[in-house]
Amino acid sequence: MNSKEVLRTENLSFSYSGLKSGISVLKGVSFAVERGEVFSVLGPNGSGKTTLLKCLDGILKQEKGRIFIEERDIRELSVREIARKIAYVPQLHKPVFPYSVLEVVVMGRNPYLSPFARPGKNDMSIAIGNLESVGALHLKDKLYTELSGGEMQLVLIARALSQNPLILILDEPTAHLDFKNQIMVLKIVSGLSKDKGLTIIMSMHDPNYAMLYSTRIMYLVKGKTSGIDTPDKIINSKYLRRVYDIETDTVKLNGKRWIIPSY
Ligand SMILES: Nc1ncnc2c1ncn2[C@@H]1O[C@H](COP(=O)(O)OP(=O)(O)OP(=O)(O)O)[C@@H](O)[C@H]1O
Ligand SMILES: [Mg+2]
Repeated sequence: MNSKEVLRTENLSFSYSGLKSGISVLKGVSFAVERGEVFSVLGPNGSGKTTLLKCLDGILKQEKGRIFIEERDIRELSVREIARKIAYVPQLHKPVFPYSVLEVVVMGRNPYLSPFARPGKNDMSIAIGNLESVGALHLKDKLYTELSGGEMQLVLIARALSQNPLILILDEPTAHLDFKNQIMVLKIVSGLSKDKGLTIIMSMHDPNYAMLYSTRIMYLVKGKTSGIDTPDKIINSKYLRRVYDIETDTVKLNGKRWIIPSY
């Protein structure tokens, strides 16, 4: 592992029904991510992106292969240790209890509190600062269960940031967001990587957003890696045909390349 590497997987395999069933969702996935990268995972629906991200956060236990966080095998880390290193923002989140938004965000501080201790002033101000940074401070006293899907997404990002993680994992962070908030969230996360050296690993669908905000991109197709490279090398008609079986054109506008579907 080189000194900049914060996460590495080696030959990762996973199946929801046990590998012996022969139905693997992840089939020997290997990649490494360096500190401060924005590493995006693209691939068709059902290709295993969510499953992969859940393995990286220890929510699912890989059945074969290894995951290293900094230099340590994830299996050697406690749940609390993982939560100080990795924060995970899920694709879908169904709230159960009617907590206030501020209570939800301050839960991000749990990995730093001793058992049964209540969050203190410092924890509250961290939570408020993170709500402000995602433009959601006005929601702080609302019930989390009564938010829109997009508002929930912003609050969950604020909660994840309150964990003060080394790696922020986001599963389709723009899925429920309106046009403005999609750009805002992607700017925030790429800004955190540039300014604070936070490492971002996220799944997404839009090749243009991936191209604009990622340092590197990995395609996942039927549980296998189908290319890892910088956006300029990997977001093009050839790869998109191979991964999604669609035809695309590339146009140049304001000095940037944009991918559009061919009609
Ligand atoms: N809890 C589960 N039990 C059994 N099979 C599952 C479970 N969750 C996902 N799968 C299956 O695993 C495969 C990969 O699913 P996954 O959610 O990882 O895909 P994805 O790439 O995130 O898709 P999407 O782009 O639609 O979010 C799919 O075939 C799915 O049906
Ligand atoms: Mg998914």
